[in-house]
Amino acid sequence: MSERETWATRLGFILASVGSAVGLGNIWRFPFQTAENGGAAFLVVYLVAVLVIGLPALLAEFVIGRRANVNAIDAFDRLDRPNWKVVGAIGVFAGFWTMAYYSVVGGWVIRYVYGSATGAYFGSPRDYFGAISTGPDAVALHLLFMATAVGIVAFGVEDGIEKATKVMVPSIIVLMIGLAGYAVTLPGGGEGYAFFLSPDVSVIADDYRSVVPAAVGQALFSLSLGFSVMITYASYIGDDENLGVDGVSIAAFNTFVGVLAGFVVFPFLFAQGVAVGDAGPGAVFVSVAAALGGLPFGRLLGVVFFGVVLIAALSSAISLLEVVTSYVVDNYEVGRAQTATGLGAVLFVGGVPSAMDIAWLDWFDTVAVNLLLPLAALGVVGFVGWVLAGEATDEIQQGTAGADGLSTVWLWTLRTVVLAAVAASLYLGVRELTAPPL
Ligand code: PFF
Repeated sequence: MSERETWATRLGFILASVGSAVGLGNIWRFPFQTAENGGAAFLVVYLVAVLVIGLPALLAEFVIGRRANVNAIDAFDRLDRPNWKVVGAIGVFAGFWTMAYYSVVGGWVIRYVYGSATGAYFGSPRDYFGAISTGPDAVALHLLFMATAVGIVAFGVEDGIEKATKVMVPSIIVLMIGLAGYAVTLPGGGEGYAFFLSPDVSVIADDYRSVVPAAVGQALFSLSLGFSVMITYASYIGDDENLGVDGVSIAAFNTFVGVLAGFVVFPFLFAQGVAVGDAGPGAVFVSVAAALGGLPFGRLLGVVFFGVVLIAALSSAISLLEVVTSYVVDNYEVGRAQTATGLGAVLFVGGVPSAMDIAWLDWFDTVAVNLLLPLAALGVVGFVGWVLAGEATDEIQQGTAGADGLSTVWLWTLRTVVLAAVAASLYLGVRELTAPPL
């Protein structure tokens, strides 16, 4: 085995993790989850879920990764708990599974960047989406997206992922702030802010059974938890790093971009009178595209908006690919570039059904988010909380002088609230699973 790679800088690690966290989940999934689950009320529950469930779970993955210093499966061996390897394996499998269809959506986004430039979808956004989302073109763009992700991962942790995300994450933030600034000027956008920002507490009281699990699921997915990404990324950092501060920064950045996406999407939609509840995999594409058609500078805005979505999707996709690549590179005598290419080829084939039929894409997504994610997260949280226990608090205290009290609070939060919330998400998620659309 060759010398294991590391991040060049602490900022590099933080930006790569933010790059993974900020993705389609923030810009596409978050606004529509908000729309479907009562608007501002959902925002409040989501913010609480990030703080109370997402952040402790993120730190749990960091603890495993940094303590073991190896890929997410062998980590459990390294921590002398080989039976728990299955948890890592589920996470790695979940990442592999997700990447196959995430890349198809990435292909749609590429299509929308140049579709915006030519105004292709302005006439009939719904028909346009229907026409481009499946079929040979969708397969070709899925291949292009996958090949780009492979290209970055092939260059390695420092020269590929770190360098790429150092440019990508600041661009996402600057462009989103620009779009949000533009949105403020829209006549009629005010209602959008009201919808997003004035919580109707009765929604939480009446619908907590659906709002709470949706918010917990969104918090986990959005922080890239349960797919072994944060375990893998943390395996490339040094022992003197303050995990608590890193975790808080990453969660804060990620939430900031999600909220910022709300500040863009809702005024856009309300200004154009487009229905916010129009959900499903086509949501952002159909509704935002419909809104863009009527806005001044619609084409330019479209290129910028979908450009941001593309960068965000790509920086998440490379993290998914890295999880598996890291496992193979750690275990076999294969180079990183060959590994990434070989995996990319398999993933490309795995994504073809989703690129041919949207029912497959929907099914892959549901299995990932309702089953694989909470299952792996449950394993991680249970393992760190109850099995690693004292070792976990030791680990988190390294580089975090004087935080003994906080680390105990963290451990008990993991053991109780987080474990219960993730178990409940798993239970509710599994009940919604359906058979594959054969
Ligand atoms: N966090 C990403 C998003 O919000 O789009 C999605 C994601 C990426 C989930 C990577 C899991 C993951 F491992």
